[in-house]
Amino acid sequence: MGGQGHEKAGEENHVNYQTLNKRAIEDFKVRPNLADYKGTRDKFSWDQIEKELDGLPGGGLNLAYEAIDRHTKTHRKDKVAMHWEGKNGEQESYTFAQMSEMTGRFASVLKGLGIHKGDRVFCFMDRIPEVYVTAFGTLKHGAVIGPLFSAFGPDPVKDRLLDSGAVALVTTPDLRDRIAHILPELPELKHIIIVNKNNRFPGSLKEGELSYEKLMEGASADYGLPATTREDYSIMHYTSGTTGKPKGAVHAHQAVLGHYATGKWVLDLHEDDIYWCTADPGWVTGTSYGMCAPWTNGVTQVIYEGGFRASAWYSTIEKYKVTVWYTAPTAIRMLMKAGVEVPKRYDLNSLRHICSVGEPLNPEAVVWGTHVFDQPIHDNWWQTETGSIMIANYPIMGVKPGSMGRPFPGITAGIVNSATGEEMAPGQEGDLALRPGWPSMFRTYWNNQEMYDSKFKNGWYITGDQAKMDEEGYFWFIGRTDDVINTAGHLVGPFEVESALLEHPAVAEAGVIGKPDPIAMEVVKAFVSLKDGYEPTDELRHELMRFSRQKLAAAVAPREIEFIPSLPKTRSGKIMRRLLKARELGLPEGDTSTLEDD
Ligand code: PRX
Repeated sequence: MGGQGHEKAGEENHVNYQTLNKRAIEDFKVRPNLADYKGTRDKFSWDQIEKELDGLPGGGLNLAYEAIDRHTKTHRKDKVAMHWEGKNGEQESYTFAQMSEMTGRFASVLKGLGIHKGDRVFCFMDRIPEVYVTAFGTLKHGAVIGPLFSAFGPDPVKDRLLDSGAVALVTTPDLRDRIAHILPELPELKHIIIVNKNNRFPGSLKEGELSYEKLMEGASADYGLPATTREDYSIMHYTSGTTGKPKGAVHAHQAVLGHYATGKWVLDLHEDDIYWCTADPGWVTGTSYGMCAPWTNGVTQVIYEGGFRASAWYSTIEKYKVTVWYTAPTAIRMLMKAGVEVPKRYDLNSLRHICSVGEPLNPEAVVWGTHVFDQPIHDNWWQTETGSIMIANYPIMGVKPGSMGRPFPGITAGIVNSATGEEMAPGQEGDLALRPGWPSMFRTYWNNQEMYDSKFKNGWYITGDQAKMDEEGYFWFIGRTDDVINTAGHLVGPFEVESALLEHPAVAEAGVIGKPDPIAMEVVKAFVSLKDGYEPTDELRHELMRFSRQKLAAAVAPREIEFIPSLPKTRSGKIMRRLLKARELGLPEGDTSTLEDD
C-alpha cells in the first residue's frame, strides 16, 4: 500500500510536542481575521464570501478584475501591488492602477492578435513583472493562462504546449533559445511573444516572433470590462501522476472565492501587510498565493526573483518589512541548516505570521520557528487540483507540530476508505478525501475527462494522499498512495523521467523512485539497465545525468543513477517501482506482496 517508505510526518511526534501558540484573541498585535474557527465554520457560506468581492455587471466574475481592477476604484488605487526585486538587485514597484493599465494593454494585445476567450496562452519566464502582467492580462481577456516553470527544459515545455493546444507563448529570448527546437513541432502555436525590456536577456527577436514591448506600446490600456462568467476557465497547471504525461488541471474564474477567502483567514492578510510568497509562478502556489490571494485581498506583495540563499532571504524580509510569509518546508529546512546565527544578523521583527505548504513540515521545523521568529510556522495542505488551501493551521488555533491543521471553513475533509466511501474513525489511517463542490476545485483535466472522473468516488474527491485525523479534528499526513515523487515541493512523475532516460541510446530500461532526503524530502533516483554493448561506467552515469537535466530540468532530473542488470517487472512487463524502493530503503521485499500483479 501507499505511504511505504515516505516520512511519516509527525506520527510519533505529535505526542512529544506540546500544542503551540494557543492565544486569546486579545493577545494578538493584529486581530486575526478568523477569530472563531467553529463559529465561522458553522455559519459559513460561499455566497457570503462572494458578497465581499465585486463581481461583474450581469453576474459575471473575473479573476483579474477582482485581483486588480476593482482596487482602482478605491483608496487602493495608488497603493503598491508589487515590489519587485530582480536577481541583479534591480527594484521596481507597481501600483494597482499601473497593474490595471498594463494588464488592460496586454488583454488588448491578445484581442488584437485574434486570440479568443478560452484559448490557451502560456508563459515561460523567470519571476519578472511581465509574468504577472501576462497572467492577469490573459485572464482579463478571458483566455486561459498556463504558467510554466522557468527551469524546465524542452521536453516538459513541449508536452504542455502540445497537450493544451496553446496558441501563444510569452517568453524571453534566452528561454526561447533553450527550447527553440521544439517550437516547430507545435502546430497550434501561432504567436511567440518575446519579452526583453532594456535588453535584459541575451538573444534577439527571430523572424515571425513578436516583441512584447512593441505590442504593449501600440495597445490600448482601456480594454473595458472582462466578459467572463464564474465557470469560464481561468488557469491551468500541469501536474504529475504515476503513469503517463502530466495532466492539465483546469480551474474556473470562480476559484477567486477560494483565493480570497483563504488569503483572508489562513494567510490572515490585512490591509497594511507586506506579503511574500516564495513559490515560483510556474507552480500552483505561485499563482493561487503568489498572485491571486494577496491581490484579491488588496495587499502589497514582494516578488523576489533570486534563488535561495539564507542571507538573501532574511535580508528580503528585513528590507521590505515583510509581515506575512508563505514558504515551503525544503526552504525552511535549508534555513535551519544555515544555522541560528544567520537570522540574528537581521531585523525580522516585522514578521507576524508564517505559513508553509507543499510537503510535510517536520515538527522540529515548526518548533524552530518559535526560536528564530518567535512564532510557530503554520503548515497547510492543498493540491494543484484543489486550487486553494483546504486544510490549515490558523493563527487563532493551537498548532500541533507535525499536523496540517483543520479543514478550511466551507470544506469538508474526511479520512475514508476510497473503495467504499466509508469514513474512518479518528486515529485510523486512510485516504484523504474532500466533499466536492468548493469554488476553486479543478473543473477537468485538459483532454482527459476520464481521468478527472476517476478521482471522484462515492461522493468524495480522492486526493491520492493518505492521512489520519485525531480526536480534535486535526489532520496528519502519512504519505501518497501513488508513485509520484515530491522533491522540494515539486511533484515529479516517475514516468516522465523514465521516458527521458529511455531516449538515450544506452538505456534499455529505467525505473524511477523518490529516495528520502533530509532537506528536499525526496530526491529523484533512477535505476537503469543498459543495452548490450554499453558499460556501466561513471562517465556514462554523468552523461545520463546531463542528458536528462538538459531535457527535463535540474529539479526533475535524477540526482542519482544506479546501474542494475535488469529491472524487476510484473508478468505484464510493468516496472515494479515499489520493489525498487523497498530495496533502496532496505525494507523487506515481502512488502511487495501487496503489489498488483497484473
Ligand atoms: O502529497 C501532498 C503534498 O503535495 C501534494 C500536492 O502537490 P501539488 O499538486 O504540486 O500542489 C502544490 C500546492 C500545495 C499533496 O497531494 N503536500 C502538499 N502540502 C502538504 C503536502 N504533504 C504534506 N504536508 C503538506 N502540508
